[in-house]
Amino acid sequence: MIYRSLAERISALAPDRVFFFVDPASGFDFAEAAAMLGAAMPALPPAEMIRARAGEEHKTPAQVGEVLSALSRGGATRQSLLVCVGGGVTTDLGGFAAAVFKRGMRYGNVSTTILGAVDAAVGGKTGVNFMGLKNEVGAFHFPSFSLPDIEAMAGLPRREVLSGFGEVVKCVFIGFRRFLPLVGVAEGAPADDALGALLGYCAPDMMEAGRLEALVGACVALKEDIVGKDPRESGLRKVLNFGHTAGHALEELAIARGMASGVSTADDAGSAHGVAVAHGILIALILSERMLGLPRRIVSVYARWLRGHYPPLPVTCADYPRLWQLGRHDKKNSASDDTLRFVLLRGLGSPEPDIPVGRVDFEAALDLYQELQGR
Ligand SMILES: NC(=O)c1ccc[n+]([C@@H]2O[C@H](COP(=O)([O-])OP(=O)(O)OC[C@H]3O[C@@H](n4cnc5c(N)ncnc54)[C@H](O)[C@@H]3O)[C@@H](O)[C@H]2O)c1
Repeated sequence: MIYRSLAERISALAPDRVFFFVDPASGFDFAEAAAMLGAAMPALPPAEMIRARAGEEHKTPAQVGEVLSALSRGGATRQSLLVCVGGGVTTDLGGFAAAVFKRGMRYGNVSTTILGAVDAAVGGKTGVNFMGLKNEVGAFHFPSFSLPDIEAMAGLPRREVLSGFGEVVKCVFIGFRRFLPLVGVAEGAPADDALGALLGYCAPDMMEAGRLEALVGACVALKEDIVGKDPRESGLRKVLNFGHTAGHALEELAIARGMASGVSTADDAGSAHGVAVAHGILIALILSERMLGLPRRIVSVYARWLRGHYPPLPVTCADYPRLWQLGRHDKKNSASDDTLRFVLLRGLGSPEPDIPVGRVDFEAALDLYQELQGR
């Protein structure tokens, strides 16, 4: 149960009022949280609850306006605290409302999705979508605390579990050595054996709480370390985009297809961010072999794991020009020459950002990607 440690975290900050911004799908028990907090801080006015609407379509300035109105009506001050409870949409949006309310009030995150816990809730990036562009409006505003609610994650739909594990596996590749103690593998073990053991530990079908807690903890520690060295993404922080250059393009393609066919994107695994990232990682590994000499065995071990746990994405050669275009339009990969910028691996745990990849290499990687997916 997270309520006791949450009450402790909140009371350590000595806020004058507390507001909870809660995604109802998270299963969070506001009454219990408020009661624990009341017991820990008897002089505090009763906590207030603001209902969040999750899902990308609700990550809007309009919902920020609703949160700001509720804070204003509730008499929030700069000494108050907003506690955001839910996945990445709720923590990104609530964090942004906190960043702009009275030019900045404190907030804390309780993450109830895996993706939220390992990525969105850590690192201080907050924001909303605007004019059809993802995270177009936002601010860097660091949370006062970030607590993963591992118990709540047991209720996540499979699509969200797969999405979360895409980001977990990304962390395993970029922070490889720090994950080895989880599987008791020594640093000197052959790289592909060690990777195989770690990927086995990361099987999304084995969502045992202790294992998930250990993985989430290691991912958060990795991200905190990287962000601590480069809070505003001027260099090192870019390595966190491993798997994302091709991943974003695959995600956009899946979303566009879903819209064109009238199929709800919720039914389409490829449109889930972390699922597209899991596939984007395979493309990045293929390019790492091609361009930086990453051993082929690593690519094969990961390809097998991906095939075993994730649905294939329907990519054909006819999609290559569109995927290239989508990559070129992504602000994070922008390059003035005719290349895409990738984070690639020289070895496990050795990511290198800003590697230029031309169209010929990109399409050759997509060919092998299709082959490795069994297409
Ligand atoms: N700030 C950052 O650095 C950063 C990093 C990565 C992703 N993000 C953002 O995170 C968002 C994606 O996060 P997300 O995948 O958590 O999305 P989300 O918040 O929309 O949650 C996904 C779905 O899970 C539901 N849900 C939440 N908790 C649940 C629970 N315990 N049980 C059952 N269902 C639950 C939600 O209602 C929603 O339907 C994107 O908007 C992305 O831009 C931000």
